[in-house]
Amino acid sequence: MAVNPSGGSQFANVSREVPQAVNAPLTRAAIFLVVTLKPGAGHRTLVRSFCADLATLFRAVDFRDIEAGLSCVMGIGSDAWDQLIGAPRPAELHPFREIRAGARHAVSTPGDLLFHIRAKRMDLCFEMATQIMARIGDVVSPVDEVHGFRYFDDRDLLGFVDGTENPRGDEVAEAALIGEKDAAFAGGSYVIVQKYLHDLRGWNALSTEVQERIIGRTKLSDIELDDAAKPTSAHNALAKVVENGAEVKILRDNMPFGNAGSGEFGTYFIGYSRSPRTIEQMLENMFVGKPPGNYDRLLDFSRAVTGSLFFVPTATFLENLPAGAPADSVPAAASSAAEPTLASPHENNGSLRIGSLKGDVEDE
Ligand code: HEM
Repeated sequence: MAVNPSGGSQFANVSREVPQAVNAPLTRAAIFLVVTLKPGAGHRTLVRSFCADLATLFRAVDFRDIEAGLSCVMGIGSDAWDQLIGAPRPAELHPFREIRAGARHAVSTPGDLLFHIRAKRMDLCFEMATQIMARIGDVVSPVDEVHGFRYFDDRDLLGFVDGTENPRGDEVAEAALIGEKDAAFAGGSYVIVQKYLHDLRGWNALSTEVQERIIGRTKLSDIELDDAAKPTSAHNALAKVVENGAEVKILRDNMPFGNAGSGEFGTYFIGYSRSPRTIEQMLENMFVGKPPGNYDRLLDFSRAVTGSLFFVPTATFLENLPAGAPADSVPAAASSAAEPTLASPHENNGSLRIGSLKGDVEDE
């Protein structure tokens, strides 16, 4: 299997485009870095040239310990897409939609760029984040940075194994990568992140049996409860989305994080999906309930303090950004007339031409 430029292994036969390392294996450490673009036009040229160089930057950090499995996925938010790229635009990219239901609130918080950095070693993740900020720090403001760690047997801080029902093998591309439905962006992905804080004292006051019915799996052995024992409000029941008789999976890589001194205990939720609708449906089931009111009791002990949606273009796209134009400065007619030529940079032979773009990015 070929190795893609931002770590992980390349999906086979998804498209001619090389996806980013969405499918990187679970790692011991991760950094989730969300930034916003500072106002002003100056960021456009700089961030675009950074996109073209990201793979080069990645290789420099990765090579410091090639065994450590470094990967870096970059996502772009809806408003930032308009500012940085314009047309063409991923069909389902929009800002994260907040949900309010009773005491539950899936907040929508600012985020223009997401960096999901994973490795066996935190120092490598940290170096990658540092190098990214050294390049774009002048034109972005960090809004959230979470350093996640793997906790015992892949458990969250609630004590349950997290990630068991993730898709595997060929199912991964099926779940996480856009297919021919949005051909210009085939091989890309949508990603939703939410930072949850837990009321661990309240959670730990529950009996193990009650916790198991909230999650829908046994705590020690991580076995799914059978239907007779599992309430319809169980987390894994509400998070199961079925369309036309078939389950629609997403790819998750949640990480625990925390601060023991200040009593902060959290789960950073990250879900990749070929359509944001799937994750939005899961969130609706969890927060509003299915039927409404039959909500996810996990939310009585977990509060979402961030929520953002990003598009993850392929590595090929990032490296060869279409000339585009900010959407707000292009009249609609001119925009659609420009589409054929805008698509052409992707119609390359799949070669990433790493390094060839250095210092050669158009100055719009
Ligand atoms: C407080 C945050 C969360 C925690 C601690 C958490 C924890 C868990 C645990 C322990 C499982 C069972 C093991 C597994 O299959 O991975 C699970 C399953 C799952 N979770 Fe979450 N989760 C959280 C938030 C979310 C959110 C926000 C979503 C989607 C919007 C989600 C989607 C899923 C899905 C799709 C499954 C697999 C269901 C199945 O097919 O069995 N989770 N989660």
